[in-house]
Amino acid sequence: MRVFVAGASGAIGSRLVPQLIDRGHEVIGTFRSPGHDDHLRALGAAPVALDLLDASAVRKAVLEARPDAIVHQATALANIRFSRNLDRSFAETNRLRTEGTDALLAAGREAGVRRFVAQSFASYRYAREGGPIKGEDDPLATPPAGMYESAAAMSYLDRAVTEAGGVALRYGGFYGAPNDGWAELVRKRQFPIVGDGGGVFSFIHLDDAAAATVLALERGGSGIYNIVDDEPAPVREWLPVLAQVLGAKPPRHFPRWLARLFAGEAAVMMGTEARGASNAKAKRELGWTLRYPTWREGFRVAYVTQRSGDVTEAGSPQDRAERPDAEARSRPM
Ligand SMILES: NC(=O)c1ccc[n+]([C@@H]2O[C@H](COP(=O)([O-])OP(=O)(O)OC[C@H]3O[C@@H](n4cnc5c(N)ncnc54)[C@H](OP(=O)(O)O)[C@@H]3O)[C@@H](O)[C@H]2O)c1
Repeated sequence: MRVFVAGASGAIGSRLVPQLIDRGHEVIGTFRSPGHDDHLRALGAAPVALDLLDASAVRKAVLEARPDAIVHQATALANIRFSRNLDRSFAETNRLRTEGTDALLAAGREAGVRRFVAQSFASYRYAREGGPIKGEDDPLATPPAGMYESAAAMSYLDRAVTEAGGVALRYGGFYGAPNDGWAELVRKRQFPIVGDGGGVFSFIHLDDAAAATVLALERGGSGIYNIVDDEPAPVREWLPVLAQVLGAKPPRHFPRWLARLFAGEAAVMMGTEARGASNAKAKRELGWTLRYPTWREGFRVAYVTQRSGDVTEAGSPQDRAERPDAEARSRPM
């Protein structure tokens, strides 16, 4: 297939492009930042500069590319600063998830595109009631203050894409890139265990996320898939492990009231009540197998090898060389 990847130069896009090419697809990849055209060329994609918020430019780029399929991986999360108001931090990403999705869907329709896959998000979205692990059909939560617009944008994307016959991939928290926002916060002891640390997180290594995306493109039925690993885990379990792997001091403990004061309601919810996601549907319907079924192994491979600097693995020095600006960018989760 000729695959048009919007946001091909990003953390997930950079893993996706080589996997698509390995599977025999031809890739047209979009970028925003100067210099990322060379990065995409080196990965084997034909680069196209594109602002997804410019609908007429999207139309032109898609019609010129004449793709069979579109994958939407554009977000504006690089270098964002998290504040109590997550909607402010996510404002541009929310536009990419609404206006950007609409522009790509409209252009795809006009170009006769047959397949459409878009990046959505699994973590913290499922209703905070009942069991700790949720499937795609489980209800979503009412978002806490400061997350209304972000939650609405993700739901908009899920709905628009699936109503158009496409696939929305609700990824877990990405890890595996040298500049993972997670890792930086944990290294600096800025990611505390709040209350009992019972909030359940779902993670996914970027390589596994990319592999699932290829499968979704090739064989996914229209709908929503959680793309997460096999071991959703409470913060009190995974955070000390990540700190140890990174060679950081153990995480601090904050009571809920203190976390609410400093970080806001959303941070307290994530740390104490969030639910994880199940990958059963993606495994069953896509035939997806994970290289890193649990973050326990994935963190070790991603971060210990970075520290020793001797393995050509995801998030390794090779990865840094492929993405020249990677060290300079920091994306807290
Ligand atoms: N998924 C989430 O909801 C979430 C939440 C918080 C944090 N994170 C963190 O953010 C990262 C997510 O990885 P990612 O691959 O989604 O993000 P990324 O690495 O920042 O890549 C985003 C992609 O979108 C492109 N882009 C940005 N603005 C655009 C615009 N206006 N129009 C068109 N393209 C645009 C970028 O182009 P250029 O690179 O060329 O500029 C890049 O190709 C991970 O490190 C993750 O930990 C994710």
